[in-house]
Amino acid sequence: MRHFLSISDLSKAEIEQVLEIATNIEKNWQFCRNMNNKCIASFFAEPSTRTRFSFERAMHWLGGRIVTAADASASSSLTKGESLKDTFRTLGQYSDAIVMRHSDQNWPIIARQFSRVPVINAGSGSGEHPTQALLDLHTIKQKWSNVSGLKILICGDLKNGRTVHSLIELLNLYGLKIYLCPASDNANCDFNIPEKYLSEIPCKTVEICDANDLLPEMDVVYMTRIQKERFKGICGNIDFFKINKDNISKIKENAAILHPLPRNEEISEDIDDDPRADYHERQVRNGLYIRTALLDFMLYTSPMHRNPIRSCS
Ligand code: CP
Repeated sequence: MRHFLSISDLSKAEIEQVLEIATNIEKNWQFCRNMNNKCIASFFAEPSTRTRFSFERAMHWLGGRIVTAADASASSSLTKGESLKDTFRTLGQYSDAIVMRHSDQNWPIIARQFSRVPVINAGSGSGEHPTQALLDLHTIKQKWSNVSGLKILICGDLKNGRTVHSLIELLNLYGLKIYLCPASDNANCDFNIPEKYLSEIPCKTVEICDANDLLPEMDVVYMTRIQKERFKGICGNIDFFKINKDNISKIKENAAILHPLPRNEEISEDIDDDPRADYHERQVRNGLYIRTALLDFMLYTSPMHRNPIRSCS
C-alpha cells in the first residue's frame, strides 16, 4: 500500500514524475485521468483553506467524488471517543484514498499501520506537511531550471511550523543551501527545528539581526508565521524576522519570496504587489496543480486503479 505521509515516501524519480504531471496539467487542462469511479475522503480535523480547497477542487476536476465533513474535529465520531485507528478502517470502506489533517503529529504512524487505502498527509500537527513541500519545490523549480546550490533563507516558527520540516528534507534532496532564522522570545519558548528533522541535513542557523545582512545573497526567502495555536500563552514577547518596505530592497531582483500561508505580520501587505512576492498567486495556484498531479499519481499508478485518459472538456 502506497501512502504519502512523508517526503521519504516518494523517491526523487517519483517526485520528478509528480512535478512533471503538474507541469503538463498547467499547460493543458485536458491532461487528466478519468476518476469518475473514484472517491476520496477529505478528513480535515484542523482548519484549512488552501490545502482542503485545492484537494477538493482537484478531485472535482478529475471527475471524481469526495466524501467529507464540514469540520471533522467537531462532527466526526472522534468526538465520541473513536480512535484514529478505527477512523482509518471506517473511511477506507467508503473511499479509494484518504486526505487527512489532524493535530496529532503521530497520526501518520497509525495510518501506515491500519489504513487499507492510500492516505495523503495534508498536515500532521506540528509534524509534517509534505504536499506543501512539493508545491514549494515546484514553485522554485519553475523559476530556476537547476536549483542545486541556490540559497534559501527560512524564517519564523521553525519548531511548530510543519511546512518547514517537510521542506528542508525535500530541498536537501535537491542540493539547496539552507539558512534558518528561527523566531526568539525573552522567556522560555523555543522556535528552532527539532533535531529529528535535521539529521544529516546541512544547514546554518542565523540570528534575526543577521538575516537582514544575508538577504542580498538569498535566491529564495521563505517566511512562516508564528504558530500561536500550538503553544498556549506561555511565551514572552516573540521577535521574528519580517519583510517590509524597509528591507525588501536588499533582496535580489530575481529572488522568490515564498510563504505557505496563512500570513500574519511576518510579511507586510505593502510588498504584496512586488514581482518577487510569489506567495499569493504562483505558490497557491501550484497547490492545485501539484495536488491534482499527486491524486493522479497515487490513484493511477497502482494497477488496481488504472483508467483511460479522458478529455475533461
Ligand atoms: N499552507 C496551508 O497549509 O494552508 P491551509 O492551512 O490554508 O491549508
